[in-house]
Amino acid sequence: MNTIIYAHRGASKKAPENTMPAFEIAYELGADGIETDVQLTKDNIPVLIHDETLRRTTNGIGFVQDYTYDELKKFDAGSWHSATFRKTIIPTLDDLLAWNQMKQLKLNIELKNNLIEYPNIEKIVCEKIKEYNMDNNSVISTFNSKSLKKISKLKYSIPTAFLTSRRSRELVELGKELGVKGLHIRYRLLSKRLVERAIENNLYTAVYTVNQPFSIARVMRNNCYALFTDVPDLAISVRNRLGQ
Ligand code: G3P
Ligand code: MG
Repeated sequence: MNTIIYAHRGASKKAPENTMPAFEIAYELGADGIETDVQLTKDNIPVLIHDETLRRTTNGIGFVQDYTYDELKKFDAGSWHSATFRKTIIPTLDDLLAWNQMKQLKLNIELKNNLIEYPNIEKIVCEKIKEYNMDNNSVISTFNSKSLKKISKLKYSIPTAFLTSRRSRELVELGKELGVKGLHIRYRLLSKRLVERAIENNLYTAVYTVNQPFSIARVMRNNCYALFTDVPDLAISVRNRLGQ
């Protein structure tokens, strides 16, 4: 099986994570898809940033949810990575979806609603995906199982996946109960048995975040459906070497 390579937060080693340059570079390097994280602004605009706060990846402070998008876009989300990316702004989900109209990469849109439960984030994100006709090449993932139940009630045709870093014997059962298509597991949870049990139950397995040739190869050899990596170029070379 050809394991799908998602650039985790874009090509996040070469460029600042979750920015348009990181997505563009992932495309140029040949990644199959982009993984990104969504939070909501004060005016309910879905924006692409991993943390709930601005401190780590921008020159701002405070919570994303306390700023309107017009205020947020004044912050520099690139300089923390390197001077080359000075003045790069926090993108919106619209920016990514519009950019992907021509590229047609696979998209993994992760709702970052495990710490802050942004009301309505599920519907807002599903509507955006629908608006850009990306239902067929997108998956929505989250660590928040309540949110997955909410999405399944909304009856969109967009696949969902349960994200987890916790070892649990009932993971496959939980996935089935949540109505998801996939289990997005942390690398340390990977086992041949889990992948096989998932397949038997019509669930796929994807693994985050793998950046070393050995772990990337192990994910691929275990026939995982997809992986998330900060270094998509490395993952592509491993896949080529394995003859996948
Ligand atoms: O979606 C896979 C991975 O991104 C989940 O963890 O913290 O990197 O968003 P995190
Ligand atoms: Mg993520």
